[in-house]
Amino acid sequence: MCGIMGYVGELNAVQIVYKGLEKLEYRGYDSVGIAYKDNFTVTIAKEKGRVMDLAPFVKNKSSDLAIGHTRWATHGEPNQQNAHPHCSNQNQFILVHNGIIENYQKLKVEYLSGYSFKSQTDTEIIVNLIEYFALTMPINEAIRKTMSLLEGSYACLVLDKKNLNCIYFFCDKNPLLLGIGKNGIALSSDITGLVGVADQYIVLEDKTFGIAYLNRYSLYDLIGLKINVKPKPILVTAADIDKKTFHHFMLKEIYEQPMMIRSILHKYFIGDEENISMKLLNKIRKCDKINIVACGTSMYAGMMAKYFFEKLCFMPAEVFCASELIYSTPLISKRPFFIFYSQSGETADVLAVMKKVKKQKFPMLAITNNVESSMGRLTDFCLDIYAGKEIAVASTKAYTAMIVVSAILARAISGIKTNLKSNLKGVSLAMEKVLHNKEICLGIAKELTDASDAFYIGRGIDYWVSLEGALKLKEISYIHTEAFPSGELKHGPIALIHKDTPVIAIITQEGTNRIIRSNLTETISRGAKGFVISSKSLSLPEDTFVIPNVAHYLSPLVSAIVVQLIAYYTALLKHNDIDKPKNLAKCVTVE
Ligand code: G6P
Repeated sequence: MCGIMGYVGELNAVQIVYKGLEKLEYRGYDSVGIAYKDNFTVTIAKEKGRVMDLAPFVKNKSSDLAIGHTRWATHGEPNQQNAHPHCSNQNQFILVHNGIIENYQKLKVEYLSGYSFKSQTDTEIIVNLIEYFALTMPINEAIRKTMSLLEGSYACLVLDKKNLNCIYFFCDKNPLLLGIGKNGIALSSDITGLVGVADQYIVLEDKTFGIAYLNRYSLYDLIGLKINVKPKPILVTAADIDKKTFHHFMLKEIYEQPMMIRSILHKYFIGDEENISMKLLNKIRKCDKINIVACGTSMYAGMMAKYFFEKLCFMPAEVFCASELIYSTPLISKRPFFIFYSQSGETADVLAVMKKVKKQKFPMLAITNNVESSMGRLTDFCLDIYAGKEIAVASTKAYTAMIVVSAILARAISGIKTNLKSNLKGVSLAMEKVLHNKEICLGIAKELTDASDAFYIGRGIDYWVSLEGALKLKEISYIHTEAFPSGELKHGPIALIHKDTPVIAIITQEGTNRIIRSNLTETISRGAKGFVISSKSLSLPEDTFVIPNVAHYLSPLVSAIVVQLIAYYTALLKHNDIDKPKNLAKCVTVE
């Protein structure tokens, strides 16, 4: 959600920022803009639409200083006027901003009464406040003064037309990374923007202010004291964020899952022992209930985690939707433990709950694909899911990675030496077999493309995968899809079945095989087009996709691949923008 990119250095800043914005596209956005030093002034180009819409404006342009932005509209519709960069009234300062300024109306009234505004954004307040304070104080102080007044979240880059040697930057509660390269300094909302431009990076702490020059940078805290942070090497390579031979990142990421499981095993096992801190395990063992908090796909992974904690560790667990939990006051047990699931580690709703939990001093763990994220830094304990960079907005490998890490964590908490490791190796092989039969998913997709509604059904863990299957399908195919526990159909949803409504049943558990089939038949009798994804041992000859048998509690990891492929092929047949579905963002930094 929104992306920032900036560069000052010997290389062509215009092209670096343009390419950087392309790399940040996956975060989700609806307008785009760039500002670069052009002789002794600054040229700005911005557009509603895609990064490629800027191509004509930046073609053959070169500069040693540029900033850019991809905007996901919050205040004001996506249009050219609201797109960043924004200029101050006297045109001295040019700024890009990620985040939301909650008190912008108040600040406007208090400080900027004589100012005029061209956009509906909260951002224009920031750039004008800087200009206002710079009338009476040096620029560094003007920025820090502005920071001290802003409530909300921000990561900003600023150019000063009177000093076009540097980029000013500052952030609070919104990610901003500084990249240090041989030829210059880059700034980006995430590490992907820095790949190929910088060798080392620093994740900026909240309330950091800094200045980047061609070959040096300085960081300060809010009162102006210099901060020294040791940069870390950038380990993500260009190959990690490359589509390779795949047409879409989503398909590439679906294909990475079997290998990913093997590498997670490698990271989390030393022989037959889990490589997880004893301190963490003991903390969890001492609790009387595990509270799982997440959003979207991560929440569905959390449902599987609940199952593992209850079935393998005999510990009660409950899953909370972060955006609901933040505005409710559930009964908290005497010794709770909180686990936060998030691929990005930046989801605002999850972060808001985390901060509340932290205030109450309850122990917590984050399970994430971004250990250096805001969540990674806020939490007591953090487990990396080692999924590797996920670029497609629709999450696939992060979902299965979270489930795998949760199963390993549950085994470690329980202390019972089950054969999870070999079972997970079996899952990896089963996933490969599913991928081998992907044509069947294409066949199912052909039957879905004309549908206006579709349904997934299941019971127990098959229902939880159904939820994820329905989410994937609606996210990228735009077909209205819901998942239901199959037993609930007759209490309402069956009224929605009409001729040829696709109903996909997931059946991998012996105890519920017969009853799900009977529920599916009820929909078929009312005109539905039925499809069955079943485990081999439970399959019937007429089933649509038969997945290999794996340990029964791990079957969601295999059926997940089938539902991901169904969503992928349906979106493909509909010619949708698979990796960047409309209205959605990969990193949801607003509540
Ligand atoms: C967005 C993404 C989803 C993700 C959800 C939660 O909606 O598009 O893929 O599941 O946010 O994000 P998180 O980063 O917390 O897992």
